[in-house]
Amino acid sequence: MAAQPKPPKRPICNIVIVVAMQTEALPVVNRIHLTQDPHSPFPRGVPWVCYHGTYKDLNIHLVWAGTDPTLGVDSIGTISSALATYAAIQALQPDLIINAGTAGGFKAKGASVGDIFVVSDCAFHDRRIPIPVFDLYGVGSRKAFETPNLVKELNLKMAKLSTGDSFDMTQQDESLINANDATVVDMEGAAIAYVADLLKVPAIFIKAVTNIVDGESSDKPVAEEFLQNLAAVTAALSLAVEQIINFINGKCVSEL
Ligand code: ADE
Repeated sequence: MAAQPKPPKRPICNIVIVVAMQTEALPVVNRIHLTQDPHSPFPRGVPWVCYHGTYKDLNIHLVWAGTDPTLGVDSIGTISSALATYAAIQALQPDLIINAGTAGGFKAKGASVGDIFVVSDCAFHDRRIPIPVFDLYGVGSRKAFETPNLVKELNLKMAKLSTGDSFDMTQQDESLINANDATVVDMEGAAIAYVADLLKVPAIFIKAVTNIVDGESSDKPVAEEFLQNLAAVTAALSLAVEQIINFINGKCVSEL
């Protein structure tokens, strides 16, 4: 388990919010009045999009991984999110990373559609390497930066997150997600945690449940339920992100 980054004793100034999908990004961009950065801090040719603005005392960048240059769909998943997070940290030197996004939830663990969770731990469920020690490297378990005051003040639920590069879930995935003790699953969190840990930037993860993955919560397949709930859940997610940013304003990371 990695040590927590040593927090500076000055108020947080620079925040980078990392999101995978445009539908997750735009409600936050609009709610806190960010605008697209005319001078991208990223190398020419990459699809990553940077929005910027000030909110109270905070300098906020939101990085959306953009669309796949060939297929035009959102660049979801671990590769794009890790690369964009790395580039954003290098270019923008944030005091804090916030990964905000949607997630599948396990109703057996108490998740319901619309729930918003702060993540305590991230791990991968689709990196199976049955060789001693490489097995642990594959699972890549990391603690999120702890925010007990934020969780208490905003009355947020906490959950463990499991990350994989597939949206569907095989039986083997399900048992490995259970081994990670996860309540929510996504396609980015543990990859962002890996990069933040490498570069010693505190990272927190806010996940909003769009669909239930252990049995149907409606009569619809998981992907349909995801698409049906996406707009309402991302609107709720953006409200939670604004509340979290309000709480963060004026505080040091050690006060979160
Ligand atoms: N994001 C939203 N729903 C998801 C799911 N079922 N699996 C992975 N990521 C998700």
